Amino acid sequence: MNRYSKVTLTIVSLFISSSIYAHSSTPNPMLVEAGKRLFNSFCIYCHGIDGSGTNAPAANLSGVPTGDLSNKAYMSLLTDKEIINRVAYGEEKYPYLQMPGWRSNLNGEKITAIVAYVRTLAVDQGPLQGPTPTERLKRFQNDPLERGRIHFLRYCSGCHGKKGDGKGWMAAKALNKPIAIGSAKIAPTLTFDSVKAYVTNINRWDKSYMPVFSEEEILPKLADIIAYIKTLPKQYSK
Ligand code: HEC
Ligand code: HEC
Repeated sequence: MNRYSKVTLTIVSLFISSSIYAHSSTPNPMLVEAGKRLFNSFCIYCHGIDGSGTNAPAANLSGVPTGDLSNKAYMSLLTDKEIINRVAYGEEKYPYLQMPGWRSNLNGEKITAIVAYVRTLAVDQGPLQGPTPTERLKRFQNDPLERGRIHFLRYCSGCHGKKGDGKGWMAAKALNKPIAIGSAKIAPTLTFDSVKAYVTNINRWDKSYMPVFSEEEILPKLADIIAYIKTLPKQYSK
């Protein structure tokens, strides 16, 4: 293709609606540009400027590590439609991902644009080291300790610490110190009923710093969370 026809093509493409191009494999520069603006307002705080999730100011917010959108080997296993669905529905449909869906904030067109931009962030980092998206889902479905790990990181580690040592990132700001829930002294004493009573007890408002969790949200996850906490002393304390 010579230089002039390339330029003409670009100009023509500016006049064609983005929805046509959403299905094409050639990235439409306008779509990518629009996606970049949206990414920078909605996603950058957690996923970072390069999509790698490192050094992003809020990368730690959800406790679980923010996914690496810059990993080509991983991202190339997902079709555009699969990425769009993950962004739209988040954990609602893909429970192993601890990210809320964005479909109430962003319509389909905007999500399509963001994903076109996200595609441009993927760089070759060699062969995939970790599990594939399918393997992650299977593990989440089949392994209660994996579910417990992810939910503990998400719901409890901000205060009780990733290792259960009571030193989560929010703990420094807490008036009451979170207990070292994963210590050899405390972990073995936890029972489903005692933890349930504490995490859902609405009567401790005035004396407790810990949030009260809704039964609907936390109870289906609690047995897995507790089972995981009980593995922490073996993993971390001497
Ligand atoms: C509050 C932090 C946060 C924000 C804001 C955020 N994400 Fe995420 N995102 C996460 C976390 C945490 C995960 C799950 C990572 C994991 O488990 O691998 C995730 C996962 C994803 C995945 C799935 C990756 C995979 O492994 O399948 C995509 C795609 C994604 N985010 C895109 C976006 C886009 C696009 C936006 C902006 C609209 C956005 N994220 C905003 C935290 C965030
Ligand atoms: C925002 C911080 C925070 C989060 C998130 C949090 N906790 Fe706590 N937790 C605390 C603090 C602080 C204490 C110490 C007592 C208090 O203030 O209620 C505590 C105490 C506890 C106790 C001890 C109760 C007792 O008998 O002394 C249990 C059990 C507990 N947390 C379980 C959990 C579980 C399980 C999760 C996740 C589902 C969780 N916590 C999430 C801050 C937190």
